[in-house]
Amino acid sequence: TLKLAVVGGGSTYTPELVDGLARLRDVLPVGELVLIDPAADRLELIGGLARRIFAGQGHPAVVTTTVDVGAGVADADAVLLQLRVGGQAARHRDETWPLECGCVGQETTGAGGLAKALRTVPVVLDIAETVRRINPGAWIVDFTNPVGIVTRALHSAGHRAVGLCNVAIGLQRRFAAHLGVDPELIRLDHVGLNHLTWERGVTLLDAPGAGGGREVLPELLSAYGTEIAEDLRLPRALLQRLGVVPSYYLRYYYQHDVMVEELRAQESRAARVAEIERQLLELYADPVLDTKPELLGRRGGAFYSEAAVQLIAALLGTRGGTSVQVVNTRNDGVLPFLPDDAVVEVPAEVDAAGVRPLPQRPVEPLYAGLIAAVTAYEHLALDAALHGGRDRVFDALLAHPLVGRIELADRLTDRLLAHNREHLAWA
Ligand code: G6P
Ligand code: MN
Repeated sequence: TLKLAVVGGGSTYTPELVDGLARLRDVLPVGELVLIDPAADRLELIGGLARRIFAGQGHPAVVTTTVDVGAGVADADAVLLQLRVGGQAARHRDETWPLECGCVGQETTGAGGLAKALRTVPVVLDIAETVRRINPGAWIVDFTNPVGIVTRALHSAGHRAVGLCNVAIGLQRRFAAHLGVDPELIRLDHVGLNHLTWERGVTLLDAPGAGGGREVLPELLSAYGTEIAEDLRLPRALLQRLGVVPSYYLRYYYQHDVMVEELRAQESRAARVAEIERQLLELYADPVLDTKPELLGRRGGAFYSEAAVQLIAALLGTRGGTSVQVVNTRNDGVLPFLPDDAVVEVPAEVDAAGVRPLPQRPVEPLYAGLIAAVTAYEHLALDAALHGGRDRVFDALLAHPLVGRIELADRLTDRLLAHNREHLAWA
């Protein structure tokens, strides 16, 4: 059996992961789950519930907890990163100060996303260094946002890492539900960067893992276009005319100013999540609870556990053969208009030999332009995260397609630094 280590194991998301591990034990037979977190009290609480979920499903896995990354990752077959530097308090700031400048406040997109990258990259690289020292063979699976930049940071330091997001698996499940078929029969023609993707096609396979199949995106859009567009909060006519399904993060670009007005009028997502988390922790403390509570479904991470289990199972070779999964991985020519070391989010063949992104047909200028611009921003954001300095922060913002103006980049830079000094060693 396998040993899995989770950094940020004290997260309220962990019961989602444990539930997936328990349900999908045939795909990924876990013998030990190590939860690693600096918050010892949270570890005890989440560890207890994790044990009850496994036991409740008759799963033999042992759950251990530690505050020590080195001790936790020793002998682990894979290390999953799901941490949040600064917690929901820092996220709340990312979601609010950009609004003062007329820019979207979001934890992964725009100026808020840059702040999160700057806080997160050094912490993740430090953890990855410990993994390499203690357990050099382990795969690192990163769910920590911003996933594109964090994965790129891990690659740049020579780590064996792959980035994970639940947007693609969420759409796969949704389309499967519309068509009334097993999700394993749906393959997405998914292209772009993390939180900047478009579904250009949807194939209904004849059997799971089979080749061939038939293209069903046009019929999905004509039969369920209204529901799909409503979910994404984008105009149906746009989806229909382009014949693609953008991820809901594209709304931050395509309807930027509308979103700024909406966000200004609302409580931040961080504040809502903090309230959900407060209630979740109360539920988790109940010593008879042995399932993941329904309330957890109000977080954004639906199907995160399934995606993680399928990915780790493929990497460790426990699910046998090669599977195709949407992951964040090195470009290496897949999108020829991007540098090789960019991290793209595309379907890839995954097995014990590693991750091989599938070739993509040429990307239309309407999507390629934005992908290229955001890739350049990600390059500069990583540079700022690694080397610090006001000028690097400013340059990343000037390159960002949602900023791109000197006065605005200046004001955002000042605010970003003012709100994040405690987390930035160089500021
Ligand atoms: C989706 C995204 C994740 C993000 C999450 C936020 O799942 O893919 O990258 O972290 O939403 O969910 P939350 O409940 O924290 O708003
Ligand atoms: Mn994501």
